[in-house]
Amino acid sequence: MRKPYLNYCLLMSLLFACPGLMAQERIDVHTRDISMVFTVGASGRLYQSYLGTRLASNSAPADTVMEAYAQGGGSYLFEPAIRIVHADGNPSLDLRVDSWRVDSTTDNNIRVTCIVMKDPVYPVTVVLELKAYLRENVITSSVRISHAEKSPVRVTNFSSSMLHFHADSYWLTQWHGDWAREMHMEESRLTSGIKIIDSKLGTRADMYQTPVFLLSLDGESTEETGKVLAGTLGWSGSFQLLFEVDEKDRLSVLPGMNPYASDYVLDPGKTLKTPEFIFTYSDEGRGLASRNLHDWARSYGVLDGRGSRMTLLNNWESTQFAFNEQKLDTLFGETRRLGADMFLLDDGWFGNKYPRNNDHTSLGDWQENKVKLPHGIARLEKDAAEKGVKFGIWVEPEMVSPKSELYEKHPEWVLKLPNRAENYFRNQLVLDLVNPAVQDFVFRVVDDLLTQHSGIAYLKWDCNRMMTNAYSPYLGSRQSNLYIDYVTALYAVLERLRAKHPAVPMMLCSGGGGRTDYGALKYFTEFWPSDNTDAVERVYIQWGYSYFFPANTIACHITSWGKEPLKFRTDVAMMGRLGYDLDVSKMTDKELSFSQQALKDYRRLGATIGQGDLYRLLAPYGSDRAALMYVDKDKKKAVLFGYVLHPRYGSSWAPVQLQGLDAGKVYRVKEINKYPGTKAELVEDGRTFTGEYLMKAGLSVLGKKELTSMVVEITAE
Ligand code: GLA
Repeated sequence: MRKPYLNYCLLMSLLFACPGLMAQERIDVHTRDISMVFTVGASGRLYQSYLGTRLASNSAPADTVMEAYAQGGGSYLFEPAIRIVHADGNPSLDLRVDSWRVDSTTDNNIRVTCIVMKDPVYPVTVVLELKAYLRENVITSSVRISHAEKSPVRVTNFSSSMLHFHADSYWLTQWHGDWAREMHMEESRLTSGIKIIDSKLGTRADMYQTPVFLLSLDGESTEETGKVLAGTLGWSGSFQLLFEVDEKDRLSVLPGMNPYASDYVLDPGKTLKTPEFIFTYSDEGRGLASRNLHDWARSYGVLDGRGSRMTLLNNWESTQFAFNEQKLDTLFGETRRLGADMFLLDDGWFGNKYPRNNDHTSLGDWQENKVKLPHGIARLEKDAAEKGVKFGIWVEPEMVSPKSELYEKHPEWVLKLPNRAENYFRNQLVLDLVNPAVQDFVFRVVDDLLTQHSGIAYLKWDCNRMMTNAYSPYLGSRQSNLYIDYVTALYAVLERLRAKHPAVPMMLCSGGGGRTDYGALKYFTEFWPSDNTDAVERVYIQWGYSYFFPANTIACHITSWGKEPLKFRTDVAMMGRLGYDLDVSKMTDKELSFSQQALKDYRRLGATIGQGDLYRLLAPYGSDRAALMYVDKDKKKAVLFGYVLHPRYGSSWAPVQLQGLDAGKVYRVKEINKYPGTKAELVEDGRTFTGEYLMKAGLSVLGKKELTSMVVEITAE
């Protein structure tokens, strides 16, 4: 319901004129099942009064203790959400609600609440924007900061949101790692003081820490029980997730861009917009929180989230940089023989003065290498089309090799410190994307590829280094704007590209999972979770991402990295977007026919896996097995996965109780992905059961032997 905000302003000014009078205005942000309630105090200050399961609109709590967006420099004693140093040097901000409104959108499922706050003395405006996605029970929060002072102000803190909790205990689950060991899960109890999860890497920003968390209240949560907030920041740069438990054991959560080295110099009339903090709340455990985020992501967070995904054969693991036109022609044929939809040509196809034969040269010189590809990409498009497969290609357009024609021509286009030696990571440097000429260049690299080659059906956009020694020649004296402006510039380029090429699927890659966030995924259809494709490692890595990202966004390739049986590797890769990156010519007949059948089955079941509801049944952490399942929204089809990792000798497990089915329906269970010449391992294979039975008694989806797995198709009769 739209509030008459003119009347509201009038009322507030009358009340301010009568200081003894208590005026309290309540602002509700509801989804179908959750509520966030703000109260405007008599002084015009904004408080968060409630966050949790849905409240009736008339059950007004009027807690005016916790400031909803606390300002630094005044009397607030803890970590502020915002702090500004004004043009005259005054380091304080005093925000009062000026007005608020609910904006209508064309989508009935979204309600946007904008709370406009102003400083009574300094001409600063802060707009807190909350988007409630009713069906998905997701809320996003972001902030716009602007001013009309005579000269620039410095914004030193700029959280996307500030959330408050008062519970008996707080349990934080975080995911961290490094190259090839992404998404290690860790849970700890928050104690008095501050805990920060952050990145200062600028690009490839989530290589060590991922901008996601689960917060369990009043005790640890499980998949099906407990109060959980699941949150993630839509930002591809340095970020900070800050958790502060105060002297009264209240918790404040402050997610946002990292303020480290980033005092933002904001000109009058310009707006600093924070990224969105995306969150959901569940009082039925983690599983529901994930399903909420998945539903949101597929409809709103990811490009073409509701569309289907192509299976593919990639050549990185099998050829690295060593290929040519003939070899690729053979690989197109192998893609076809395997039955995958697309061939993805990886790194190594470009550079002539400095050919890209290893990772020391050529980034920036995006012309086909004449030795490897004498007839260019055009021939590859043609050859792929003749073999009946789609063609995709790798790029890393934000980067430059010191050994490249681009670097020779434009040394001023590179992020590097004056008076210091260049600092390389993977032998490369980051382009100064803040510079509009560089943005045009990056745009043109990708635009030319897509415009000149209508046969390019897919792009893999890589980013293989973080920022170090970061200094933008373009920004001059405003270096502290670099970390933020870089990401804003990246999004501006992606925005331009998507305006012109709205549909081409793109993989977000960053040396593995160094960029996995919903800020970028607006422009991408999927992401590369890790270069580590060992299937046991992938059970954990993919499991970790599944808390926040739906299966159709998680690219899972079968490779030769791990030495597990092909069946195990295949069953693990099938839990996400299935692909291959191995030498098909080395497959035995059995391996090939097994893989061909797996791809056929995936074609039938990909929609259930990618679009269905995920139930994590048995977690791999601290155990030797894992099981999960996806269930179609209409509960007519489900796919169940069971993995036995490295159990102790003689271990055996009880049947796994399924979830998410219709208790009253009758389902047939059928083991698929059986290796040629082997019989079904599933004792119940081929039989029918009620959903109730499957959810109460379960299925014996876990075998006894290590590195074995089962995939079971469950179909309502
Ligand atoms: C990164 C990616 C890999 C591959 C290489 C190519 O490491 O994560 O998948 O594309 O770059 O150089």
